[in-house]
Amino acid sequence: MSSTIEDRRRLFQAPPAQVLVAPSILSADFGCLAEECRSVLEGGADLLHVDIMDGHFVPNLSMGPAVCSCVRKHFPDVPLDIHLMVEDPDSFIEPFAKAGADHLTVHVEVTKDPAATAQRIRALGCSPGLAINPETPLEQMLPHLEHFDLALVMSVHPGYSGQSFIPEVLEKVRALRERFGDGLRIEADGGVSPKTAPSCREAGYDILVSASSVFGSADRAADIAAIRG
Ligand code: DX5
Ligand code: ZN
Repeated sequence: MSSTIEDRRRLFQAPPAQVLVAPSILSADFGCLAEECRSVLEGGADLLHVDIMDGHFVPNLSMGPAVCSCVRKHFPDVPLDIHLMVEDPDSFIEPFAKAGADHLTVHVEVTKDPAATAQRIRALGCSPGLAINPETPLEQMLPHLEHFDLALVMSVHPGYSGQSFIPEVLEKVRALRERFGDGLRIEADGGVSPKTAPSCREAGYDILVSASSVFGSADRAADIAAIRG
């Protein structure tokens, strides 16, 4: 794989014919993270999803920019999708952009001025995404989406991998797809597996994040292919 930063950013901007599969490294074995990343990339992953948790916005702690930097160093061409589940996303944009992010998603529940945040993300050379939790009404996100390339519609309550998919969120996905057509990336995150992926694709999700299903599979390439459909 050889790509420029423009190629990598474009991945988050223009929906291609194919659904993209994004393993979340949250379920990787951190003791051999580079090997774990290599295994899912060789298995057909289109990008890597990196879950950042601060112990405040969500009850769990995960990793910081140093981990992102290491992944970037080992995989200079891989598109890196950073999901900021943190109380103060604005203070983490620059550190992650400098650590090699291509895409940064912030949560609508905690982003004070989404348009300004999106603009800062672009100014740092990344593409911006806006995430919404299962219990947050879609109306809270809609007025801001014109500033973003991607909507992340959480399909579990954020904080932990290995939770069950919440099918009610598909209503939000259908509404977004109807409203934005092909003009918006819509990312699923949480509980995505070969079993739940068909309903995700049917509803209009076009990036499917998966942590426990892909990393827990004895045949990661087969799991990725089945999620892609
Ligand atoms: C949830 C994270 C997800 C999570 C997905 O808080 O944002 O990316 O790791 O895990 P699975 O695929 O196991 O539900
Ligand atoms: Zn995530």
